[in-house]
Amino acid sequence: AMNSYISNLMSRMTLDEKIGQLNLPSAGEFTTGTATNSDIGVNVKKGLVGGLFNIKGVEKIKAIQKVAVEESRMKIPMLFGMDVIHGYETTFPVPLGLSCTWDMKAVEQSARIAAMEASADGIGWTFSPMVDVSRDPRWGRVSEGNGEDPYLGSQIARAMVKGYQGDLKSNSNILACVKHYALYGAGEAGRDYNTVDMSRIRMYNEYFPPYKAAVDAGVGSVMASFNEIDGIPATGNKWLLTDVLRKQWGFKGFVVTDYTGINEMVDHGMGDLQAVSALALKAGVDMDMVGEGFLKTLKKSLTDKKVTAAEIDLACRRMLEAKYKLGLFKDPYKYCDETRAKNEIFTDANRKIARQIAAESFVLLKNQDNVLPLKKAGKIALIGPLADAANNMAGTWSVATKQDKSISVLAGLKQVLGNSAEVLYAKGSNLTADAVLEERATMFGKGLNRDQRSEEELAKEALKMAAQADVIVAAMGESAEFSGEASSRSNIDIPETQQKLLKQLLATGKPLVLVLFAGRPLTLSWEEKNVPAILNVWFGGSEAGTAIADVLFGDVNPSGKLTMSFPQNLGQIPIYYAHKNTGRPLAEGKWFQKFRSNYIDVSNDPLYPFGYGLGYSSFTYSDVKLSSASLKGNQTLKASITLTNSGKYDGKEVVQLYIRDVVGSVTRPMKELKGFQKVAVKAGESKTIIFNITPEDLKFYNSNLKYDWEPGEFEIMVGSNSRDVKMQKVNWVK
Ligand code: IFM
Repeated sequence: AMNSYISNLMSRMTLDEKIGQLNLPSAGEFTTGTATNSDIGVNVKKGLVGGLFNIKGVEKIKAIQKVAVEESRMKIPMLFGMDVIHGYETTFPVPLGLSCTWDMKAVEQSARIAAMEASADGIGWTFSPMVDVSRDPRWGRVSEGNGEDPYLGSQIARAMVKGYQGDLKSNSNILACVKHYALYGAGEAGRDYNTVDMSRIRMYNEYFPPYKAAVDAGVGSVMASFNEIDGIPATGNKWLLTDVLRKQWGFKGFVVTDYTGINEMVDHGMGDLQAVSALALKAGVDMDMVGEGFLKTLKKSLTDKKVTAAEIDLACRRMLEAKYKLGLFKDPYKYCDETRAKNEIFTDANRKIARQIAAESFVLLKNQDNVLPLKKAGKIALIGPLADAANNMAGTWSVATKQDKSISVLAGLKQVLGNSAEVLYAKGSNLTADAVLEERATMFGKGLNRDQRSEEELAKEALKMAAQADVIVAAMGESAEFSGEASSRSNIDIPETQQKLLKQLLATGKPLVLVLFAGRPLTLSWEEKNVPAILNVWFGGSEAGTAIADVLFGDVNPSGKLTMSFPQNLGQIPIYYAHKNTGRPLAEGKWFQKFRSNYIDVSNDPLYPFGYGLGYSSFTYSDVKLSSASLKGNQTLKASITLTNSGKYDGKEVVQLYIRDVVGSVTRPMKELKGFQKVAVKAGESKTIIFNITPEDLKFYNSNLKYDWEPGEFEIMVGSNSRDVKMQKVNWVK
């Protein structure tokens, strides 16, 4: 039915109208680049707009849709997109934080709620999930992704697509867009938009899996990335967009460029606008975001025989198919229900879930002498530039968030404490002493209201508060826009002025908890040595402040685990747990040996490994028990451990399974995550955790890019993070 409906429609469309379907202008309410769109209103009437984004509000969207379906000749409904990345108005933790929950139900639920709210406000398409694997914390956009691991990233990709799209039938299911395809997280030196150069075998094994997982989960659209791959920008890369995506993976949806992605190929050095637009279409791009390269040149390219009518038709058909599948031909106002908009957005129920999920995303990095949890009593000095910064809580890339309604740490503490304890607040320092740098991290209204007093005066006020208090909570780190797009950093320390304040606060000798805001792993070697307790809270979203209070006072026992290694220093980057052994590994227990693979001035270890995170309880792991030490063919291996909560608090633990393929036809990582289970265990109780392992878990792409497993010896490791594991060996033959 769909095919004949669309064929019929297309038989009546002019070439201009077909090209119009490929055009995605920005309405300009938010912007992440430069562009001048033609007059959108005029173009909608002419049938020259396929979709629109960067526009918020059901009334506005409904009005434009009305023009499309009543005033344009073909009456084709438009698609309305938005960057609904970690929630809509109810905002969840930044994706890097969300990934640290290791809770796929929570991840799916956050996407589901985001879809429910966005769809109630006119949006039918989100530019999410962002699944770029990245191993470089200098890159600002690690905050929008799921960290360094392809396996975990794939699980999250699947959960998000499911949460947004469901079966695409109901008016609260929206179209997802997996991005940025591909390898956007591997830009040289962590600099945004920078060159990527990577072997195919690495792409397939380490960077492609999450995109493929989204495709396997039925994602409806894919966004091409800004970077080049094998010397050809992704936006014009036929191998990537057609051979891999469609032929190898069987993708059936449409491909959209990133913001002016086609035009940027001119600067990449691929030709003029007409040439790069033709290149993009031929490579497999269906929709042109913002740049109007298709709109302005495809007709001429057809006359010049640079593209074919069949190529334009195919892209147009894919756009119409997406609209058909969403049910927009049946009801163009499917997402335009003002009653829903009034009743279903930023509800108490959604905010309650956001609070729970935020608390699960925090990672307790250190808790010396059980400083945490704090007592709900006495005087608490809350100090730092992030303490009273509601507009920074949602974090980067949260365009629909209600900044002023986010709960700051100060408000959260007060709400949770009531009259049981007194909170003394002082800002203590600006975000950074460098006003120019601070300005750069002050986009989208997420500034920190620079205090005009000198840093000395600010510190003096804070120290006065600290002197009166029983305990100090220091809310410090990055501001929301210190990470995110175009926010790469070459220094990933806590800004110096805050560090200085932290040192002064520590010198008081009072117990101190660092509540660390960050959109990326930071270098914390000094803090790890000197600060008694560190709770990494990322950017927790609308309910960040209450969730932080829940954890600080022990109403919630923290259970988040890192999804990106924290380096000891900048020089170790890229550092990741699934590294190779090399031909000159260090002997066990050594951190330096001459003529081995290491540095002379720092060990190879991260400061905090992938998978790491503490709680208020402690968990002990038994040895790993295997159902058999030798297996054949398609058998299933059961690996089990007994997990005991040996602490005083009920808690949750993320039990992680890693496998090493000891000998291969190509070199294999020292360990790879192949499973995890987040389990709740009451204080004093034990649970048996079982992992079922099959040859599927042993597969990888070999040097012919064939996906298979190879017989031999495997190390099966289970533990609480990628460093602390117990191991057993098996032999598995074909
Ligand atoms: O979805 C985003 C993308 O992540 C970065 N460039 C702009 C797009 C649309 O806003």
